[in-house]
This record gives sequence, C-alpha cells and structure tokens, in this order.
Amino acid sequence: MSNHILENSHGPLKRTPQARYFVDSEYFKTEMQQWFADRWVYVGRADELPNPGDYILRTIAGESILITRGNDSKIRSFFNICTHRGTVLVESENTPTRACQFSCPYHSWTFDCQGHLIGAPGMKDVDGFREQDWGLRPIDCEIWAGFIFLNLKQNPPPLAEFLADLPEKFSNWPIEEMRIGERVEYHVQANWKLIIQNYSECLHCPSVHPALARLSPPTSGENEPANLCYAGGRMSLNEGIASMTTSGSTNRPLISSLSESQKRHVYYYSWLPNLLLSLHPDYVMTHRIEPLTNNQTRIVCEWLFEKSTMASPGFQSEDAVAFWDMTNKQDWHVSELTQRGLSSSAYRPGPYSNREELLYDLDQILLPKED
Ligand code: FES
Ligand SMILES: [Fe+2]
Repeated sequence: MSNHILENSHGPLKRTPQARYFVDSEYFKTEMQQWFADRWVYVGRADELPNPGDYILRTIAGESILITRGNDSKIRSFFNICTHRGTVLVESENTPTRACQFSCPYHSWTFDCQGHLIGAPGMKDVDGFREQDWGLRPIDCEIWAGFIFLNLKQNPPPLAEFLADLPEKFSNWPIEEMRIGERVEYHVQANWKLIIQNYSECLHCPSVHPALARLSPPTSGENEPANLCYAGGRMSLNEGIASMTTSGSTNRPLISSLSESQKRHVYYYSWLPNLLLSLHPDYVMTHRIEPLTNNQTRIVCEWLFEKSTMASPGFQSEDAVAFWDMTNKQDWHVSELTQRGLSSSAYRPGPYSNREELLYDLDQILLPKED
C-alpha cells in the first residue's frame, strides 16, 4: 500500500500526513539534512549583488553562508567561518567591510571576496604556515536565470539535473534579464511544507482569496504530476483580466516573448525544496522559503520586472505587490492555523479531495515512506 492511503468502507482515501512531520523538532533536523544540506537550495538573485565586493548572508540547515561577488564579477559562496579558530566571520549583512575584504572580528585575519586569506597577523613566523592553504571553505554555487543556488555537499551533481525541464518550460520569460522591483519579508509560524502545500492547491481560493477568485477561476488549475524536482501547473485568467493585480489590469507591457496562451495564464511551480516561482504575463514573483524551526519559516517574496519596463516613466509595481501581499498574508494565516491544529492531540490524517492531488504527490516525495 502506498504512503498515506488508508482503506475504509468507501474504498481507499488519500489522506493528509501524520502530524509529526510538521510538529516534531527532531524530524525537522532530519529533513533539513535531507532537503537542505544534501540538495541544491535557492538562496537569492544575482542582482542582489550587482558590484564586486557585494555580499549577502544566508542560513541553510543551520550553517551560516557568505555569498560574494568577486573582483572578477564571479559569484562565489563560502562557509561564513574564519579558518583560524572558527569564529563567524561576517556577523550580519550590515557589517561594514572594506572593499572586497572581510576581516575576522577576533584576530583580524582578512579574506578577500574570492575567499583567499590575504592577512594573518602574528602568523608570519609560524613554521609550515602558508596563507594560500587557509582560504575560506568554498561551497558549490551555480546560477540559472539569475537565481543563485548552493549545494553544501562535496562534489554535488550538477544543478541542471535538479532544474529538470524548467529552463525549457520557462524559456519565453527573460528571467535572467529581469530585476527585483520589490521585496517583502514575512515570518510565518508554520512548517515550511505547509507553505508549499498551500501554494499547490486552489481549493481554498474561494474562501480565503475572494479577490484572487475574481481574477482567475479557482477551478482552472491544470497540474502536471509532481516529480522529484518540482510540482506545479497553471491557472487561467478570466476574460478581461490582464494580470494578477489589485485592479486586474496592468499598465506594464506584457512580456513580448510570451505565446498568446502564456499571456492568458499564470504559472505556479514549486521548485523543491524552497523556491516558489509564479510567472505572470507582465512580471515574475518568487518566494524563497527559509525554514527556521519546525514551526517557523522566513519567506522572502520578490517581484521581478523587465529592465526596460522598470526604466520607463510611470513604472510602478504597487498593483502587483499589494495584490500578492494581501494574498500572501491570507495564505500565511491559514497555514498558521493549520500548524496550530496539527499540534492538537485530536488531529488525525484527513481525506484529500481530488483537487489536492499535488499535495498527495508532494507527500510521497517529501516524506518518508510509512509501513
Ligand atoms: S578566529 Fe578569526 S582571526 Fe582568529
Ligand atoms: Fe492561497
């Protein structure tokens, strides 16, 4: 019998998972290892680091990670710990640094933004010590369409294997050339998988998102079966609706390279484990999911626009941002209520509807097989 299918007097029902996968902090550690430490993980847009010497910090599976743009313009990633005695090197994204240099707060070992050790006070006379042996410990880092991905594993398989056919599928959106127009961060008191579950069905749309349901029919979803790399599908726009905005119209040009059909749909894909990619006719929205604990998740939502659109007089992103900010908060609210309910001693796995098929598929992928 496959995972979570239970027989009852009316035939097999596909059921929601056991609560422990959402409420157990020990299980959280296991899945952080499996899904975040041993896989490619999305960490941000290359345009967050436009210039040599720019850097960002991320936390993946409890590890502090430094991502830099070097003097050669290349983006690299390193464990954010000093190779002298292990001290965290850069405390926060607001830590001032000299141009393309990071100085350890403890004994002032200094590293450049390519990770080389370039200064180690008091080490000159130490037998056997060579600066070139003590650079920052690098992490594999690859970029697709301006999205930066990291893999903490040594010698990981190429990112391309995990992107599967997404690059082909989305080739009509000029994502690499698009830039962040707006960013909103959220702290949600819910397990990270509840965020992906919520994103993967629109059964809740009529009750939770009445405004969304006016723009896009909640029953219009056409999903592909989920696979080990992603789950998703598309929904159509109602007649007379140009995009997902507060008014349903847009004064931004539609992306000219899209097909007529692509201009009439919105594409929603969860790239596993942590990038939700929502492609609209005139913009792209991303959610970066950063699990903090079993019941707390940081979510960074960004809206990307074509550079030419952003440069045009009268450009504004407010209609798209306000619409999705409202929708996001509605989603986070029901996700938080679900997290609370899952902690109840009365919770038992419930039956999935036929419109929650992706959730069941995702359970098979994300959760361990049960006997
Ligand atoms: S621990 Fe960083 S310089 Fe000593
Ligand atoms: Fe929703």
